[in-house]
Amino acid sequence: RNMIRKGSETIQLGEEYMKKKIRARVISQREIGKDIFDLVLDAPEIAHQTVPGQFVSVYCQDGSRILPRPISLCEITDRTLRLVYRIAGAGTREISGCKAGDTLEILGPLGNGFSLEEKGRAFLIGGGIGIPPMLELAKRLPGAKQVLLGYRDERFLMEDFLPYGEVFTATEDGSFGTKGTVMDAIRENHLEADVIYACGPKPMLKAIKAYAAEHGIPAYISMEERMACGVGACLACVCTSTEVDEHTNQKNKRICKDGPVFEAQEVVL
Ligand code: FES
Repeated sequence: RNMIRKGSETIQLGEEYMKKKIRARVISQREIGKDIFDLVLDAPEIAHQTVPGQFVSVYCQDGSRILPRPISLCEITDRTLRLVYRIAGAGTREISGCKAGDTLEILGPLGNGFSLEEKGRAFLIGGGIGIPPMLELAKRLPGAKQVLLGYRDERFLMEDFLPYGEVFTATEDGSFGTKGTVMDAIRENHLEADVIYACGPKPMLKAIKAYAAEHGIPAYISMEERMACGVGACLACVCTSTEVDEHTNQKNKRICKDGPVFEAQEVVL
């Protein structure tokens, strides 16, 4: 169910898309920050039908022990998928060891993706490892974009955003940009927008939800940090929604299946 709520309408995304499990060849992989890897895969069967905000599940060689790892897509071309991820356990550590020429089994495209239908000035907000999926969105979203990137300390991917919008950064330690959060950067630079797109840690998403409600603008948030298996099997990703789900009759949504993108006011954070 690739649905996204936009105002009072529900939009069906990627209806014509079919997820596939394929063996993808590694084109390149490099470390671009501490434990942060930049992996490019040749995967035309999946890439040509993928939209920003969707993700793939990457299977590890030792498939018996480790669940596939859901990894967001940073850039998408007709042939290739660029995945920027942080090592978070044995599975991602194993993936980080792959070299050009190796193959990896992947399943995708998964999840609903961002709606590109909203008009007006947009904030694209990424926090930490929530930054990568904002890049393909920055490339495809028409209109004026202000990109806000929040880091703990080390900066990565910032230069990649420069061609697509005005870029502002915030760091917890104040080493560059605004000292504080992305919300502090919005205030410090007197920025305004008509719609927000965001991906990042829960405290950041909570602050964005409150800001969007206060300003009466929609906010589409990707809650991918909460995913585990990514394929609907473990139920580790269930979140509470504000409305009863018409299929399960409960106020629950699986982030990996119903999301990872939700309109902020639709979920309890
Ligand atoms: Fe396992 Fe969603 S991440 S069910």
